[in-house]
Amino acid sequence: MQKNEMRLDFLGIPENEAFARMVISGFVMPLDPTVDEINDVKTAVSEAVTNAIIHGYEGKGGIVRMAAKIEDNLLTVEIMDAGVGIGDIRQAREALYTSKPDMERSGMGFTVMESFMDSLEVESNIGRGTTIRMSKKFTGADADGEHTQ
Ligand SMILES: Nc1ncnc2c1ncn2[C@@H]1O[C@H](COP(=O)(O)OP(=O)(O)O)[C@@H](O)[C@H]1O
Ligand SMILES: [Mg+2]
Repeated sequence: MQKNEMRLDFLGIPENEAFARMVISGFVMPLDPTVDEINDVKTAVSEAVTNAIIHGYEGKGGIVRMAAKIEDNLLTVEIMDAGVGIGDIRQAREALYTSKPDMERSGMGFTVMESFMDSLEVESNIGRGTTIRMSKKFTGADADGEHTQ
């Protein structure tokens, strides 16, 4: 597939984490992804959406936007919230850092996103919200991995 785009706004409640995972896996299907590739993207999206719900909106709800595009075999996904924002992005991205240790957070969300995707950018403004931009190249039909269809 040469080009595709989508955008989805949904309420930031835990029920919509699974919904967001399903949407992104459906969106990448035309790329003939391997099971591993799908799982990587679903996991990364899940971490970003969870962060928007728990940290961005502090569990109070708000609109989370997911935008994705495909250019050739490159997927770019953005997860945006209009929540509290991140004061120190460098610290937030550190492995094991969490601002909510009391909630048994692992502090590994950004590390997971970084390792399962090819690139990760974080833009944030205090009181304005956060945008996570991730991209991944799909090797698709050329890969040796197990395919879904
Ligand atoms: N969308 C967001 N809005 C505000 N803060 C965020 C957001 N995403 C991440 N953070 C901050 O970055 C920290 C690290 O995130 P992460 O690596 O996913 O660990 P965890 O979610 O387990 O705390 C969070 O504890 C939080 O302080
Ligand atoms: Mg997290």
